[in-house]
Amino acid sequence: MDITKLMYRDGLMKGERILVTGGGTGLGREMAEAFLKLGAEVHICGRRQGKLDETARELTDRHGGKIIGHACDIRDPEAISTMVDTIWQHGPLTGVVNNAAGNFISRTEDLSVNGFNAISDIVFRGSFYVTLDVGKRLIEEGRKASFLSILTTWVRNGGPFVVPSAMSKAGLNVMTQSLAVEWGRYGLRFNAIAPGLFPTDGMSARLSPGGRGGNSHDDMNPMGRHGEMHELANLAVFLMGPGAEWINGETIAIDGAGYKAHGGSFYGALKDMDDEQWEAMRAMIKGTNAKDKAERTI
Ligand code: HXC
Repeated sequence: MDITKLMYRDGLMKGERILVTGGGTGLGREMAEAFLKLGAEVHICGRRQGKLDETARELTDRHGGKIIGHACDIRDPEAISTMVDTIWQHGPLTGVVNNAAGNFISRTEDLSVNGFNAISDIVFRGSFYVTLDVGKRLIEEGRKASFLSILTTWVRNGGPFVVPSAMSKAGLNVMTQSLAVEWGRYGLRFNAIAPGLFPTDGMSARLSPGGRGGNSHDDMNPMGRHGEMHELANLAVFLMGPGAEWINGETIAIDGAGYKAHGGSFYGALKDMDDEQWEAMRAMIKGTNAKDKAERTI
């Protein structure tokens, strides 16, 4: 990210303590960097301690401040509880970004139950477990906080060829709307961002392996391009930082109007692929999955 394009004054987020799930890589890392740069204490979690430590080191070298990596698989509620206990020993969180995700393109008829669960356990269940664990502590202690979930525009019109992800993120969209109302009285607010295409390594390897699926989106987008990380970071800070706390229960798309123009899904790029092409995709995606898995420490 071009950090000079952050819109906010230094120190804006001083006193905030924010957990970004999946904050070691991709969009999570970018948001973590923005929060850190603006003075927040940042906690990131993921399944690869090495990656988390590397990110924490790189970002503190760049901006100073405090960022701590926690190895935690959010599919495991006990692991979440242990991590949040550790964080709470030094004080409460003031914000959570439900960013961790898993996804891969597949014809739905090719999915196994395990394949569906691999994605929905991270996105749908895992994000709820984190929200529940942190939310209960905040309610008990009478503290205000902001929750932000990273969705996609598919929550509005579905996601062909990424059905487990689209279903799971749609569930989080409804969680955002529901808890904004139910927990608003406790001073807890819930918003979401529905990004269009912001290419990251993890995403590209699973949603457009070999360049398929994603790139044509740039040409189709009304603004002729994909998103830039500072644009996402600026919106995340707006929703998580002080000054606009009355925004509650909203899902804001940031996609250059791609969703309005062409629906934002991968349908057009993937609908004509044949068995052989899907087989090649699957092999590439599984290669990436295996490589990532080898780096996991939990
Ligand atoms: C069919 C597949 C598959 C594929 C995996 N599986 N890849 N099935 N096609 N391409 C199946 C496996 O065969 C297995 O089922 C089951 O899924 C679990 O596979 P594992 O590799 O053991 O899963 P696991 O180690 O738990 O990894 C979870 C994961 C992985 C979701 C599969 O991709 C992951 O950890 N991803 C994290 C990073 C990520 O995905 N980032 C992209 C996010 S992009 P069987 O039946 O064989 O046992 C995003 C939105 C982008 O979220 C929005 C853009 C607009």
